[in-house]
Amino acid sequence: MEYMAESQYINLLPSPASLIESLRHIGYSMETAIADLVDNSITAKSTKIWIRFSWDFGNPWIAIIDNGYGMSRQELVKAMKFGSIGPQEKRSREDLGRFGLGMKTASISQCRRFSILSKQENDIYACAWDLDRIQSTNDEWQVEILNTEAICNYKILDSLLKEKLINLESGTIVLWQNFDRLEELSLIQDREKHFNSILEYTKRHLELVFHRYISPDLGGGKRTSISMNENELEAFNPFNPRNMATQELHEQDFYLNGEKILVQPYVLPHYNKVSKQEYEKYASEGGYLHNQGFYIYRNRRLIIWGTWFRLIRKSELTQLIRVRVDIPNTLDHLWKIDIKKSNAFPPDGVLKELHQVIEKIEVAGVNVFKQRGQKLSSSVKIPIWNRRATGGKIIYEINRNYPLLEQISSNLPIQQKEMINDAISIIENSFPKDLFFHDLANTPEQLTNNEFDRGTLEKLIDVFIPLIETEYKTDREKSTILLQTDPFASNKKIVESILVDRGLLHD
Ligand SMILES: Nc1ncnc2c1ncn2[C@@H]1O[C@H](COP(=O)(O)OP(=O)(O)OP(=O)(O)O)[C@@H](O)[C@H]1O
Ligand SMILES: [Mg+2]
Repeated sequence: MEYMAESQYINLLPSPASLIESLRHIGYSMETAIADLVDNSITAKSTKIWIRFSWDFGNPWIAIIDNGYGMSRQELVKAMKFGSIGPQEKRSREDLGRFGLGMKTASISQCRRFSILSKQENDIYACAWDLDRIQSTNDEWQVEILNTEAICNYKILDSLLKEKLINLESGTIVLWQNFDRLEELSLIQDREKHFNSILEYTKRHLELVFHRYISPDLGGGKRTSISMNENELEAFNPFNPRNMATQELHEQDFYLNGEKILVQPYVLPHYNKVSKQEYEKYASEGGYLHNQGFYIYRNRRLIIWGTWFRLIRKSELTQLIRVRVDIPNTLDHLWKIDIKKSNAFPPDGVLKELHQVIEKIEVAGVNVFKQRGQKLSSSVKIPIWNRRATGGKIIYEINRNYPLLEQISSNLPIQQKEMINDAISIIENSFPKDLFFHDLANTPEQLTNNEFDRGTLEKLIDVFIPLIETEYKTDREKSTILLQTDPFASNKKIVESILVDRGLLHD
């Protein structure tokens, strides 16, 4: 189109008061809004993110605090601007942002006032947007700049600063206040209940969407700890890869605009391969039927899940199939990522590739479902060691769900749990393969496990029965599960005779 020399142009600025009220309705929920701020903290290389919240006698607030690289005064002011960096601008490969809007749109979707305080190289700066002020000044985009004195007057901001940020080299606090949306509920008690329940839901949401940051895969980058009111979030990996009955199918990849897309299909265990508790845990909100499908991760952050993108119907027969798809942020324009990072749709080229993936794996998923009572790999339901064949490699891992291990770590604080986990990983990764192979090739007859004698097995049974008692009530159930648990399964004869002696099993 040609621009006519005789045309006139006038500057037509949007009206802040009405634009900002409309921007509140992009469609964020509490959990997607908080996740958008967590994205920013992760992009800022934080290793710790504290989410704090309080009902505060009807004046609720929520804060997201991180130990990331923070912002200078200039950066902070720029960050407060709606559309600080546009989607056309080049970003680092690790950046979880795209639009230069998230922090602002996510915050105003939930509350009428939000403040950002950032610390960098001992300098502390703070700014705030207040929708009521924008309404009253009408046609001005006036952001509040808080000096040190002003910060002291904001009780919550000041106390979070003193409690957390002051001791860090750098970091950022985002504080939300004035939650007018809650006022839609007329009863005060209902508002408080609702506030707490959406934050409880938010916890589960973050444990899922950031699970690869909370607990990275081997070689998958640094661990980021996220807590909510000092309760550590635990990663929820929707593929249950540590369970031996989970089938990790062949990893595949393909290229789009020269960028690699990785596809890893899983078939989750059929219900008679795992405990009821575990089966239900992985069914999660909505159940297996609803949660089957692709799980799209953008830079290891889950953005959309439980959809086949209309390539096939969700059916009972494919309900155990979940497919992990890894995409880089360089393809955002093709995937139609939305502002909330909670929606995306694959371009045609990708859809074709995904269709082929489905055709290959459908067979495997359907088989698991049809095989109901048949053995998949071993009659041992609760093994100590798991064998996994993945991406052309065979890995032996210690079963982290082994009841004794679970019992030991269940009451420990998260740091100690992770230390135990690290220790087990060290043991797994330093298995003396070469020596073992040498012995197996030369003197296989001398290669034995330390035998379990009857006395040891009896003691172990005493330890085990209380661990399984809540789930397996009858004597018959107890002895069946015991005989499918290692080391009892591999010492079946002796264990059976012990169980008969104790009257738990009848000849
Ligand atoms: N916790 C933080 N630590 C350091 N810098 C931050 C933090 N939060 C936001 N920023 C800065 O503020 C800018 C604006 O953030 P905002 O979330 O509005 O947009 P974005 O992350 O760039 O893109 P998107 O709209 O996709 O989220 C970021 O680009 C970043 O430079
Ligand atoms: Mg952002």
